Amino acid sequence: MKCFYYFKDKYRNKEQRSAPELKEQEKFDFSGAERVTKSSCSSASPRGIPELYEEKGHNLRVFSFTELRRATSDFSRLLKIGEGGFGTVFKGSIKPVDGSDNSILVAIKRLNKDGLQGHKQWLTEVQFLGVVEHPNLVKLIGYCALDDERGIQRLLVYEYMPNKSLEFHLFNKACDPLPWKTRLEILLGAAQGLIYLHEELEIQVIFRDFKASNILLDENFKPKLSDFGLAREGPVAGDTHVSTAVMGTYGYAAPDYIETGHLTAKSDVWSFGVVLYEILTGRRSMERNRPKTEKKLLEWVKQYPPDSKRFDMVMDPRLEGEYSIDGARRIAKLADHCLRKSAKDRPTMRQVAERLKQIIQDSDEERSHPADDKDIEVSENDPIEPEEKSSESGSSELWKKRMEHLAKLGERVESVSRRRFMILQRANVSS
Ligand SMILES: Nc1ncnc2c1ncn2[C@@H]1O[C@H](COP(=O)(O)OP(=O)(O)OP(=O)(O)O)[C@@H](O)[C@H]1O
Ligand SMILES: [Mg+2]
Repeated sequence: MKCFYYFKDKYRNKEQRSAPELKEQEKFDFSGAERVTKSSCSSASPRGIPELYEEKGHNLRVFSFTELRRATSDFSRLLKIGEGGFGTVFKGSIKPVDGSDNSILVAIKRLNKDGLQGHKQWLTEVQFLGVVEHPNLVKLIGYCALDDERGIQRLLVYEYMPNKSLEFHLFNKACDPLPWKTRLEILLGAAQGLIYLHEELEIQVIFRDFKASNILLDENFKPKLSDFGLAREGPVAGDTHVSTAVMGTYGYAAPDYIETGHLTAKSDVWSFGVVLYEILTGRRSMERNRPKTEKKLLEWVKQYPPDSKRFDMVMDPRLEGEYSIDGARRIAKLADHCLRKSAKDRPTMRQVAERLKQIIQDSDEERSHPADDKDIEVSENDPIEPEEKSSESGSSELWKKRMEHLAKLGERVESVSRRRFMILQRANVSS
């Protein structure tokens, strides 16, 4: 039988979008489940995200479509605040649960992909964001799922982040340039979000889509990671990686992951290295309208190594020299560590954050440390903090019901997709 592969257009405009597959071997099986296998000597993970969601799921609100339609003036174009690979984002206001008059500002993402793929990403986001809780991760307030004769609707309701994304401030010439220190602090906050995902939960979570547009900024420019549609559970104890279909964003995904499909937390570290170079240079990881030698950021910066005389050529001209050249060289070195070819030679996010803290502290003290630059010792044996296991057992009726509800929604979408698949197959046979 002919295999069916799932493809999605990657480049829709000048910006980099997530989700599209990075190589053609992306495959979904008949049931639509993404092929995820663990490496050899697999020992079953005690609990996965669905179980943790059942136990820890926050007080997610279930919205009706009518409520969200009202919240956004029927998804008015005037309230549109962004558009990504998964859907359109609207600013809206909802009533608080306590019924008081003070409405709450929210961002409502309406997924534009129908069928199983859209549902899967929506479900992944609901489950991961229902489990995680950290000041550097965006808060999911609730969701909406509607299936009717006109198709399926999947929406997510997040806390509203008034300062948009790092991407917006870094690359949008119309807004004031981000000061050097703000850039470093944003990346330190983002690193802390990744440390939490990699090390501080009962299971490891690999974000898989770290990039400037997924770093949202609150009123004080504090960063929060958003978009968990591509997040995956990391390998369980004893395993080195998770083998999965390759997904992510061109220009940010680690080459070893693209090549092999072997996903580790070090794939996020690579992407972090790319964003470090973006904050140094004010350039996107890929820019099509640049001269040939400058299109790919990582290739271009190689011409100006951190210790070279001409290193300042890479620096963002919008900084107008308002940065510490020593600090900038150290950031470039840190980025180079993150961008090492072999995943095991890259630092952990904890090591990256430590180094970032030092650089920020040193630039605060306005001291330069040209002679103190030491390479980070990269060790795969870094101790991982023991995790506190919750003693709570059993879940509330409410959460059981919610899980059943989510599962039922999945079944329904799956049957729709299967029908579509069969139609496709029939068309193929007869042609
Ligand atoms: N919670 C939020 N608060 C405020 N604005 C948001 C929020 N979530 C998203 N946005 C805005 O919507 C834009 C689009 O977000 P979205 O995640 O859909 O796409 P993207 O990150 O640009 O691309 P991709 O789909 O590849 O992740 C963001 O860049 C941001 O400006
Ligand atoms: Mg995004």
